[in-house]
Amino acid sequence: MTGGLFRLDDQIAVVTGACGKLGPVWVEALVDAGARVAALELAGAPVSAAYKKLKDTAGERLRRFDCDVTDRRSIEAAVEALVRQLGEPAILVNNAGVDQPPDSGGNRSRIDQWPVEEFRRMVEVNLLGTFQVTQVVGARMAARGSGSIVNIGSLYASVAPDQRFYDHLPGDLPFLKSPAYGASKAAVVNMTNYFATLWGPRGVRVNTLSPGGVLGGQDEQFRAKYDARVPLGGMARPEDLKGPLVFLASAASSYVTGHELRVDGGFTAW
Ligand SMILES: NC(=O)c1ccc[n+]([C@@H]2O[C@H](COP(=O)([O-])OP(=O)(O)OC[C@H]3O[C@@H](n4cnc5c(N)ncnc54)[C@H](O)[C@@H]3O)[C@@H](O)[C@H]2O)c1
Repeated sequence: MTGGLFRLDDQIAVVTGACGKLGPVWVEALVDAGARVAALELAGAPVSAAYKKLKDTAGERLRRFDCDVTDRRSIEAAVEALVRQLGEPAILVNNAGVDQPPDSGGNRSRIDQWPVEEFRRMVEVNLLGTFQVTQVVGARMAARGSGSIVNIGSLYASVAPDQRFYDHLPGDLPFLKSPAYGASKAAVVNMTNYFATLWGPRGVRVNTLSPGGVLGGQDEQFRAKYDARVPLGGMARPEDLKGPLVFLASAASSYVTGHELRVDGGFTAW
């Protein structure tokens, strides 16, 4: 019987970077499974339409707290507030992250001139942000003797980006996907193992969920090249990510820790 294994009724979940593209996907999956969710997001960050819609449907089951994951004091203040208002978190989804999508209008650079500041910023948010939120929230879980932490990785934690996906884009310099993105995500996968082994004896499970590319506004030429590389035939739909998250968050995965669950349609199997 698997009846209640995937339920999260009245558990408190924390999702960082909750108001962007994938944040609302995680939030909706958790709320649907019965959890109450604390959405941590930078003060003043743009709020996606998906999050706004969710705010209306989730009602009291969703509360937002300002938080900069690169700032320890900001994390502590957010966690104090959410514990006061909702209770102790049982689930943490480390989702906040930065990437440099091809349509971001960012200045392009040759690899030999790549600004180290850009590299540092990605490591700062994607790796050190995940580390610091894990320190604050995970330590509370370890003290209580239970919890599930899901770090959001990426297919680029395992493989290098295929730069040919972008070679149709106009510009004086070719668009290069940042060398820092995959490096920061690979480090998150490794850090997942660190905390899984450190806190396993304290009842805290720590896993990575590594999505492949998710549908959302990509141009047709990119889509055609990307889709041709995916054994399951295309990019992920947001719904494809929900089951894997609920699995890792819930008792359905009670004996799973230190695992990287790749949800990429088989991209990294090829
Ligand atoms: N979208 C994809 O196809 C895809 C694929 C694989 C992995 N991912 C990963 O999923 C996660 C979410 O990606 P997304 O596509 O929703 O990106 P997004 O840019 O739409 O959302 C990221 C959110 O994180 C927030 N954020 C950034 N810096 C922060 C900080 N210092 N403190 C708190 N919040 C901060 C942003 O404001 C934003 O709302 C990221 O970790 C990303 O690397 C995304």
